[in-house]
Amino acid sequence: MGSGIAQVAATAGCKVSLYDTSLEALDKAKVSLNKILTRLVEKERIDEAEKKRIQESINYVNHLKDLASSRITIEAIIENLEIKKKVFSTLETYVSEDCIIASNTSSLSIASIASALKKPERCIGIHFFNPAPLMQLVEVIPAIQTAPEVLQKSTQLISDWGKTVAVAKDTPGFIVNRVARPFYGEALRIYEEGIADFTTIDFSLKKLGGFKMGPFELMDFIGNDVNYTVTETVFKAFYFDPRYKPSFTQKRFSEAGYLGRKTGKGYYSYDESGHIIRDKTHDTINSELAQQIFDRVLVMLINEAADALFLNVASATDIDNAMTKGVNYPKGLLAWADEKGIQWCVEKMDELYRNYHEDRYRCSPLLRKMNKENKTFF
Ligand SMILES: NC(=O)c1ccc[n+]([C@@H]2O[C@H](COP(=O)([O-])OP(=O)(O)OC[C@H]3O[C@@H](n4cnc5c(N)ncnc54)[C@H](O)[C@@H]3O)[C@@H](O)[C@H]2O)c1
Repeated sequence: MGSGIAQVAATAGCKVSLYDTSLEALDKAKVSLNKILTRLVEKERIDEAEKKRIQESINYVNHLKDLASSRITIEAIIENLEIKKKVFSTLETYVSEDCIIASNTSSLSIASIASALKKPERCIGIHFFNPAPLMQLVEVIPAIQTAPEVLQKSTQLISDWGKTVAVAKDTPGFIVNRVARPFYGEALRIYEEGIADFTTIDFSLKKLGGFKMGPFELMDFIGNDVNYTVTETVFKAFYFDPRYKPSFTQKRFSEAGYLGRKTGKGYYSYDESGHIIRDKTHDTINSELAQQIFDRVLVMLINEAADALFLNVASATDIDNAMTKGVNYPKGLLAWADEKGIQWCVEKMDELYRNYHEDRYRCSPLLRKMNKENKTFF
């Protein structure tokens, strides 16, 4: 992630110092950037002079003191709170008083990282998506300690780098990793109940929802180990809220080493070039079943997005931007709720709750209130 972020900053005209404790990682970053830029030249997206300029804008360094003149640092090291805190407190001894110290963490609280600093008000979360140069969204997360001007300067800088900023509250999973959970979790639950197989569920979401990949294709693509860990982390961080409960199916796939595309086998099998080997087509799929699956996953996603708004995790616009630009959803979930009708959303959630009597299926109070008041999100 660090080298991707360095590429974004250098492309936007910044002078960058890319720091790593591992010289091997620095070499790898240099070689990989050269490959990426060469490809961009071949595709005529940049010329040789621009390639040279970007490469010369990045200085590969191996000591924290080499970051002394930075106006902002964005940390993207190993996802370990103790190590991040140690690096942050050392870094603070080298940089200037007004240098912003940001973290690209996906799962740790910014407040806990900021607490390692003498000036915690200079700390903020700046969360890129992978690969950073290609993904449009960046979540910016002020901690409770963060100074307003640090938030203002950070959002301005990231916008100047050509990215779409979504400001999120410092809560587990921020926006995307929280709101996207039902896409995986509800699909897995539908499978576990024996309602449909992986292919049918994926087909339903792609065909009826316009999602580029179905949930099982996407979990295979991300890696079942990585995706399972994110779910488990979010579940624990939310004090075991059943809405985020991980699935045994995914845990077993992960334990078995069926990680997905990277191991050649996950929910699907993959050929040498990483394409799914299909043994079944869905020309004759039961359209009633497909609709039932799609409606259930969609309403759970909408409910999650509405609840994030209800709890002030982010604005309606930022929640919708996060899902369309961070994970390429075909529509923003709140706009989708308006389109389907708030009453439809409430009725679908209540139907699920009536069927299961599980807290997982509780309707967001915001949807219920909006339905009563006949309101829409936009
Ligand atoms: N991979 C993703 O899809 C993704 C997406 C968004 C955010 N993130 C976050 O970005 C961060 C990095 O993730 P990654 O996937 O790039 O990890 P990675 O393991 O690929 O890279 C981490 C780098 O940090 C270096 N490192 C480890 N300890 C260090 C230290 N003490 N000082 C300096 N460098 C050190 C390692 O040598 C390595 O090069 C994590 O916080 C992760 O949560 C990752």
